[in-house]
Amino acid sequence: MNSPIRAGVDRRTFVKALSTAGLALGTAPAAFAQAVAPRRRFAIVGTGSRHKMYQMAIETTYKEHAQLVALCDLNPGRVEVARKLSAKNGAPVPPGYAHTDFLKMIAETKPDFVIVTTVDSTHDDYIVAAMEAGCDVISEKPLTNTAEKCQRILDTTRRTGRHLRVTFNYRYSPPRTQVKDILMSGEIGDVLSVDFHWMLNTTHGADYFRRWHAHKKFSQGLMLHKASHHFDLANWWVGAMPETVWAVGKREFYTPAMAKRFGLESHHERCHTCPESAKCGFYMDLAASPELKEMYLDQEHHDGYFRDRCVFRPEIDIEDTMNVMVRYDNGVTMAYSLNAFNAWEGYTVVFNGTKGRLEHTIVESTYVNGTNTVQGGIAENGVTTRVIPLRGPPRKLEAWTGAGSHGGGDKVMLDEIFLPDAPADKYLRASNQYAGAASILIGVAANKGFATGQPVKIADLVTGLEKPAYAPMPSRTGPVPMPERARTRRGGA
Ligand SMILES: NC(=O)c1ccc[n+]([C@@H]2O[C@H](COP(=O)([O-])OP(=O)(O)OC[C@H]3O[C@@H](n4cnc5c(N)ncnc54)[C@H](O)[C@@H]3O)[C@@H](O)[C@H]2O)c1
Repeated sequence: MNSPIRAGVDRRTFVKALSTAGLALGTAPAAFAQAVAPRRRFAIVGTGSRHKMYQMAIETTYKEHAQLVALCDLNPGRVEVARKLSAKNGAPVPPGYAHTDFLKMIAETKPDFVIVTTVDSTHDDYIVAAMEAGCDVISEKPLTNTAEKCQRILDTTRRTGRHLRVTFNYRYSPPRTQVKDILMSGEIGDVLSVDFHWMLNTTHGADYFRRWHAHKKFSQGLMLHKASHHFDLANWWVGAMPETVWAVGKREFYTPAMAKRFGLESHHERCHTCPESAKCGFYMDLAASPELKEMYLDQEHHDGYFRDRCVFRPEIDIEDTMNVMVRYDNGVTMAYSLNAFNAWEGYTVVFNGTKGRLEHTIVESTYVNGTNTVQGGIAENGVTTRVIPLRGPPRKLEAWTGAGSHGGGDKVMLDEIFLPDAPADKYLRASNQYAGAASILIGVAANKGFATGQPVKIADLVTGLEKPAYAPMPSRTGPVPMPERARTRRGGA
């Protein structure tokens, strides 16, 4: 299982690191298992910043229904931080396992579900191993990041019959569900084309160039890591499967040349030791944030994972400027862009339908991964949604609202995952391996397009890809009301 570290951490070192902290590695898993009631059992692999949402959910909000039975990561320091969080939550402290003991963890702690929150390039290994060992899996997006790994996951899911869920929290954000509701209602008729443009600002956007995301071998770039969220939203909004992808991409902002254009002498290795930190607007002070310090700076001696690498360093090999066209199996076409150096954070999406147009924009608040800022938080008055009929005045909609991360979407999704008997969802927001695959394969195709300049057919990338269940959408062949005749002013313009 590859990872963004200089060298693997062997089991002895891992055990030593945990026991130095007074937390024995295998805190008697059997005794631990007995001490807790028969709630659904979850293990988490990958104890970085994203895992925290799941751990908090299991140990606080949904503790009547769920229990955390094990934690696993390649970095023993981050496992220890997570175990301390269990103690802080007043929950039984689960045993911690090294990544090399993943199967041992499953055998000893018998989770019903494994939650995968490791770096993207390792998702497939854990998804496949967990399903082979008889567990259902909840994976963070992206499902995985290459066509080969995707094929492995599709094949294993089919062979084992295990359930795989990809947590596309963006679908659950109330204003985005509202967009789906309008599209389903037929108010703009059937959608013929989509214009979807996502902006990452120079705080959140820059952050992808500091960490493992900046290297294709770990992330396959923002077409997979970031845009898989957006491609999934688009697929789900229009209720269709992507068929063909055209794309161009480049990196022109996070480069050594830009460091010089910004007046720096040069790029450097990392912020923590940067000789020009006082001059750099992209400086990140890990030591100044208690969360970042505990999660990353204090743990880097275990694995050499620096959270604050220079955003202008030459070895970065991902794009910061990406344009993609997608044709769907129902005829819908989409123009999409992602820019990682923008003046504001958020997106604008337009659906052009046979009866009118739906325009929807969200301006997000500033976010830094691993800090106490709210990810995907919506800026004040940040949502605009309006419908414009073909020949009538626009109708501005009162936005559906929610609270918390990802515009309130995380809470709605967690309710669905952890509460027993979740109510039926008319928007069919829960997603499986096919939705996960459909989203990442657009990214895989776009990356191929960047390299070759050629269109890429999704059907050429994997076999056995099925259309996920999508909520019914307006007919694309039925009658459409004739729009009112356009009024022309007498006497000319
Ligand atoms: N849905 C969302 O909105 C959202 C938000 C943030 C992150 N994510 C996803 O969550 C995942 C984790 O992201 P993060 O921001 O927490 O990153 P992170 O760098 O904070 O954490 C990644 C963790 O994986 C561990 N790791 C690396 N290689 C490993 C291996 N081989 N085996 C076991 N553990 C290994 C690292 O030690 C680290 O603890 C990513 O897949 C990311 O796409 C999703």
